[in-house]
Amino acid sequence: MDWIKPNMKQIDAILQDSRFQYGLQRVTELEKERIFCCHRLDHLLDVARIAWIMVLEQNLSLKKEIVYGAALLHDLGRYRQYEENIPHHKASAELAVQILPDAGYTEEETAMIAEAISQHGDALERQSILARVLYQADKLSRCCFQCAAQAECKWNEEKRNKTILY
Ligand SMILES: [Fe+2]
Ligand SMILES: [Fe+2]
Repeated sequence: MDWIKPNMKQIDAILQDSRFQYGLQRVTELEKERIFCCHRLDHLLDVARIAWIMVLEQNLSLKKEIVYGAALLHDLGRYRQYEENIPHHKASAELAVQILPDAGYTEEETAMIAEAISQHGDALERQSILARVLYQADKLSRCCFQCAAQAECKWNEEKRNKTILY
Protein backbone atom coordinates (compact mmCIF):
# COMPACT_ATOMS: atom_id res chain seq x y z
CA MET A 1 0.00 0.00 0.00
CA ASP A 2 2.47 2.60 -1.20
CA TRP A 3 -0.23 5.24 -1.50
CA ILE A 4 -0.69 5.39 2.23
CA LYS A 5 2.79 5.14 3.64
CA PRO A 6 3.93 8.17 5.61
CA ASN A 7 7.33 8.17 7.24
CA MET A 8 6.44 6.43 10.47
CA LYS A 9 9.80 4.80 11.28
CA GLN A 10 9.92 6.45 14.69
CA ILE A 11 6.45 5.16 15.51
CA ASP A 12 7.48 1.64 14.54
CA ALA A 13 10.51 2.00 16.80
CA ILE A 14 8.24 2.89 19.74
CA LEU A 15 5.97 -0.08 19.04
CA GLN A 16 8.95 -2.41 18.96
CA ASP A 17 10.60 -0.98 22.08
CA SER A 18 10.75 -3.61 24.86
CA ARG A 19 9.81 -1.01 27.51
CA PHE A 20 6.73 -0.07 25.49
CA GLN A 21 5.72 -3.68 24.98
CA TYR A 22 6.27 -4.50 28.65
CA GLY A 23 4.24 -1.49 29.82
CA LEU A 24 1.37 -2.21 27.49
CA GLN A 25 1.26 -5.84 28.55
CA ARG A 26 1.26 -4.91 32.26
CA VAL A 27 -1.45 -2.26 31.80
CA THR A 28 -3.58 -4.74 29.87
CA GLU A 29 -3.19 -7.41 32.57
CA LEU A 30 -3.78 -5.05 35.48
CA GLU A 31 -6.94 -3.57 33.92
CA LYS A 32 -8.65 -6.89 33.17
CA GLU A 33 -11.32 -6.34 35.84
CA ARG A 34 -11.44 -2.54 35.61
CA ILE A 35 -14.96 -1.09 35.22
CA PHE A 36 -13.71 2.39 34.26
CA CYS A 37 -11.91 3.51 31.09
CA CYS A 38 -8.93 1.34 30.20
CA HIS A 39 -5.58 2.33 28.72
CA ARG A 40 -4.73 -0.39 26.24
CA LEU A 41 -3.45 0.10 22.71
CA ASP A 42 -6.94 0.86 21.39
CA HIS A 43 -7.15 3.92 23.66
CA LEU A 44 -3.63 5.09 22.78
CA LEU A 45 -4.49 4.85 19.09
CA ASP A 46 -7.87 6.56 19.51
CA VAL A 47 -6.04 9.49 21.09
CA ALA A 48 -3.35 9.51 18.38
CA ARG A 49 -5.91 9.58 15.57
CA ILE A 50 -8.20 12.17 17.17
CA ALA A 51 -5.19 14.39 17.93
CA TRP A 52 -4.02 14.03 14.34
CA ILE A 53 -7.47 14.93 12.97
CA MET A 54 -7.40 18.03 15.20
CA VAL A 55 -3.97 18.98 13.82
CA LEU A 56 -5.22 18.60 10.24
CA GLU A 57 -8.53 20.39 10.78
CA GLN A 58 -6.97 23.30 12.63
CA ASN A 59 -3.83 23.50 10.50
CA LEU A 60 -1.57 23.19 13.51
CA SER A 61 2.14 22.93 12.93
CA LEU A 62 2.88 19.58 14.58
CA LYS A 63 4.56 16.62 12.93
CA LYS A 64 2.72 13.33 12.80
CA GLU A 65 5.55 11.48 14.58
CA ILE A 66 5.33 13.96 17.46
CA VAL A 67 1.56 13.60 17.80
CA TYR A 68 1.62 9.81 17.61
CA GLY A 69 4.65 9.57 19.91
CA ALA A 70 2.89 11.62 22.59
CA ALA A 71 -0.39 9.71 22.27
CA LEU A 72 1.17 6.24 22.26
CA LEU A 73 3.15 6.94 25.42
CA HIS A 74 0.78 9.17 27.38
CA ASP A 75 -0.74 6.37 29.50
CA LEU A 76 2.06 3.80 29.36
CA GLY A 77 2.99 4.47 32.99
CA ARG A 78 -0.44 3.38 34.23
CA TYR A 79 0.99 0.09 35.47
CA ARG A 80 3.36 2.00 37.75
CA GLN A 81 0.40 3.87 39.20
CA TYR A 82 -1.28 0.55 40.00
CA GLU A 83 1.90 -1.11 41.26
CA GLU A 84 3.81 1.74 42.93
CA ASN A 85 1.27 4.53 43.36
CA ILE A 86 3.22 6.90 41.09
CA PRO A 87 0.82 9.28 39.27
CA HIS A 88 0.61 7.87 35.75
CA HIS A 89 1.20 11.16 33.92
CA LYS A 90 4.53 11.40 35.76
CA ALA A 91 5.44 7.74 35.21
CA SER A 92 4.50 7.97 31.52
CA ALA A 93 6.61 11.11 31.04
CA GLU A 94 9.58 9.30 32.61
CA LEU A 95 9.13 6.34 30.29
CA ALA A 96 8.87 8.71 27.32
CA VAL A 97 12.22 10.27 28.21
CA GLN A 98 13.76 6.80 28.15
CA ILE A 99 12.05 5.47 25.03
CA LEU A 100 11.91 8.43 22.62
CA PRO A 101 15.65 9.10 22.09
CA ASP A 102 16.16 5.42 21.24
CA ALA A 103 13.30 5.69 18.73
CA GLY A 104 15.05 8.54 16.90
CA TYR A 105 13.47 11.60 18.50
CA THR A 106 15.71 14.59 19.16
CA GLU A 107 16.36 15.95 22.64
CA GLU A 108 14.04 18.88 21.95
CA GLU A 109 11.24 16.66 20.62
CA THR A 110 11.60 14.31 23.58
CA ALA A 111 11.33 17.21 26.04
CA MET A 112 8.27 18.61 24.24
CA ILE A 113 6.47 15.25 24.28
CA ALA A 114 7.41 14.49 27.89
CA GLU A 115 6.08 17.88 28.97
CA ALA A 116 2.77 17.35 27.16
CA ILE A 117 2.40 13.89 28.72
CA SER A 118 3.15 15.20 32.21
CA GLN A 119 0.36 17.78 31.78
CA HIS A 120 -2.38 15.54 30.42
CA GLY A 121 -4.04 14.74 33.73
CA ASP A 122 -5.59 17.66 35.51
CA ALA A 123 -7.11 20.92 34.49
CA LEU A 124 -4.24 23.38 34.35
CA GLU A 125 -2.75 26.02 32.10
CA ARG A 126 -1.08 24.31 29.13
CA GLN A 127 1.42 26.36 27.16
CA SER A 128 2.27 24.15 24.21
CA ILE A 129 -0.06 23.28 21.36
CA LEU A 130 0.90 19.62 21.74
CA ALA A 131 -0.09 19.59 25.43
CA ARG A 132 -3.47 21.10 24.59
CA VAL A 133 -4.16 18.77 21.69
CA LEU A 134 -3.16 15.71 23.73
CA TYR A 135 -5.38 16.70 26.67
CA GLN A 136 -8.40 17.36 24.47
CA ALA A 137 -7.99 14.27 22.28
CA ASP A 138 -7.64 12.13 25.41
CA LYS A 139 -10.95 13.34 26.82
CA LEU A 140 -12.76 13.31 23.46
CA SER A 141 -11.76 9.68 22.93
CA ARG A 142 -14.00 8.54 25.79
CA CYS A 143 -17.68 7.66 25.38
CA CYS A 144 -18.85 8.97 28.77
CA PHE A 145 -22.36 9.39 27.35
CA GLN A 146 -22.90 5.64 27.29
CA CYS A 147 -20.59 4.46 30.07
CA ALA A 148 -21.97 1.95 32.58
CA ALA A 149 -19.69 3.27 35.34
CA GLN A 150 -20.80 6.92 35.10
CA ALA A 151 -22.08 7.09 38.67
CA GLU A 152 -18.83 5.84 40.19
CA CYS A 153 -16.46 7.74 37.85
CA LYS A 154 -14.29 10.43 39.47
CA TRP A 155 -14.06 12.60 36.35
CA ASN A 156 -15.65 16.01 36.78
CA GLU A 157 -18.19 17.41 34.30
CA GLU A 158 -15.53 19.35 32.41
CA LYS A 159 -13.62 16.18 31.54
CA ARG A 160 -16.57 14.02 30.55
CA ASN A 161 -17.21 13.67 26.85
CA LYS A 162 -20.94 13.89 26.12
CA THR A 163 -20.91 13.63 22.34
CA ILE A 164 -19.03 12.42 19.30
CA LEU A 165 -16.86 15.16 17.82
CA TYR A 166 -14.27 12.86 16.19
FE1 LIG B 1 -4.04 9.40 31.34
FE1 LIG C 1 -5.52 8.57 28.14
